Amino acid sequence: MAPFDQRSPNQQLLPLTAKTNANDHLEIGGCDVVELVEQYGSPLYILDELSLRTACQQYRDGFKSYYHGESQVIYASKAWNCLAICAIVASEGLGIDVVSGGELYTALQAGVKPDVIYLHGNNKSESELEYAIATGCTVIIDNWLELKNASNLAQSLGKSPRIMLRITPGIECHTHEYIQTGHLDSKFGFDPTEVESVFAFLSNQTLLQCVGIHAHIGSQIFELQPHQDLGAVMISWFKIASNYGLNLTELNIGGGLGISYTESDDPPSITEWVKTVSNSVITACEAQGLALPKLISEPGRSLIGTACVTAYTIGSNKTVPQGRTYITIDGGMSDNPRPITYQSKYLAMVANHMSTEADQVITIAGKHCESGDILIKDIKLPKTNPGDILVVPATGAYNYSMASNYNRIPKLAAVLVDAGTANLILKRETYADLIRQDVLPTKLQ
Ligand SMILES: Cc1ncc(COP(=O)(O)O)c(C=O)c1O
Repeated sequence: MAPFDQRSPNQQLLPLTAKTNANDHLEIGGCDVVELVEQYGSPLYILDELSLRTACQQYRDGFKSYYHGESQVIYASKAWNCLAICAIVASEGLGIDVVSGGELYTALQAGVKPDVIYLHGNNKSESELEYAIATGCTVIIDNWLELKNASNLAQSLGKSPRIMLRITPGIECHTHEYIQTGHLDSKFGFDPTEVESVFAFLSNQTLLQCVGIHAHIGSQIFELQPHQDLGAVMISWFKIASNYGLNLTELNIGGGLGISYTESDDPPSITEWVKTVSNSVITACEAQGLALPKLISEPGRSLIGTACVTAYTIGSNKTVPQGRTYITIDGGMSDNPRPITYQSKYLAMVANHMSTEADQVITIAGKHCESGDILIKDIKLPKTNPGDILVVPATGAYNYSMASNYNRIPKLAAVLVDAGTANLILKRETYADLIRQDVLPTKLQ
C-alpha cells in the first residue's frame, strides 16, 4: 500500500491508519476499535488525526505547488465544527469558514485567529454580523440587506471590515452532472444581473473594504470540469469591478470535492482538484491580463469525511416472511441523518470479526421510532450476534454537525485517535444534558 501522504484521504473507504490487528479487530490510529467502545461507550465517533492532517496538508501543499500566487485553504467547518477540529486544522495553517455565530464562537474559542475566519450565511443576523466585524473576521456578503447592515455597522463600530461578495456563478452541480446557466435559482448569493449595481454601491463606500468575490457550486462533486469552468467565470468579474474603481485581489472558489462512501464512488484526488482549480484561475488571469488573486478554497467533506468512522453495538435481529433480515444498532438517524435525508449509501463492517466472510445480506436499522430510519439497506456482512461492533466508515462530514436529539437520544462521544492514543474530543451527552434547557413552570411542579 502507498505511504500515507501519497494516498488521497477522500479516495479511501477507511481512514488512512485503518488495519486489521492480530485479534482480527479493526484498528484505527493504532487503537483497537472494540477496546475504544469498551472504554468510551457505544455508539462512538472515532476520528483519525492522521487522515485529517494529511488531507489538510495535501490541500495546503498542493496550492503551493500548482498556484504561483498566494493561497489560503479554509475548512468549511459546517462539516464538523468543534474545538478540537478547529484547533487541528488551524495548526495545519488552514483558516475556518463559519456560517453562524455559534460556529464563529467555537472557532475563536479554539484559538483560531480572526484574520483567517470567514463568516458565511444567507441570512446573518445583525448580531452575527456585528460579532464578525467587531472581532475582525472577513464577512462573505450574501445579499443587499446584509451589505447595507454591514455598512451601517462599520460606521457605528468605527471599523473597516474586510468583505467578499458571494456571487451565483451560473454553474450548478448535481454530483455527477452539471449545467451552466445565465443565472441560477439559488437562495445563496447575488445573481449575476445584480453584481454591477453592487459594485457601484461599493464604489461609494469608504469603510467597507471589498477584497474579492466568492462562489460555491455544490457538494460531493466527482467531475473536475465545473471547477475548471469556474475560474474564467469568476475572473471575468475582476475586470468589471475595476471599471467601478474596485481593486479585487482575492478569489474564493468554495469547496465541493467528493469522497468515496462506497466502492462505486470514484472522486478525483485532492491534488487533482487543486491542480484543476489552480490552472483554471491562472489561465483565466493570463487571458484577461490580470495579476493572480489570492486564491482561497473552502473544502469541508473532503477534509474530514473519511477521517471518521462510527462504531455501533448490534442489538436485536429479525427475518421477515418476505426474506429480508434486519439487524438493529444502538444509533441511527440522530447520529447520521444523511441516509434518511439524502438516501446516502454507506458501507459497514464488523469490527470484532474483520476476516469473517461476508456471506449474509443484511439491512441495518437504526433504533429511532421512524420506519425510514434505515442506515444501510441490503449490505453483505458476516453473520453477527448481539453485542458485535458494527463500524460505518466515512461519517466525518455532516454527521455530528447535523445530529439531533430525536427520541431524546443523547448525542455521541467522539474520540481522536493517533499513534495508539485516544483523546476524548466530545463528551457523550447525559440524560441531564437533555433537560438542561427545559423549564418546568411552577404551576406544573
Ligand atoms: C459556502 C460553502 N462553502 C464550502 C462548503 C463545503 O462544501 P464541501 O463539504 O462539499 O467541500 C459548503 C457546503 O455546502 C458551502 O455551502
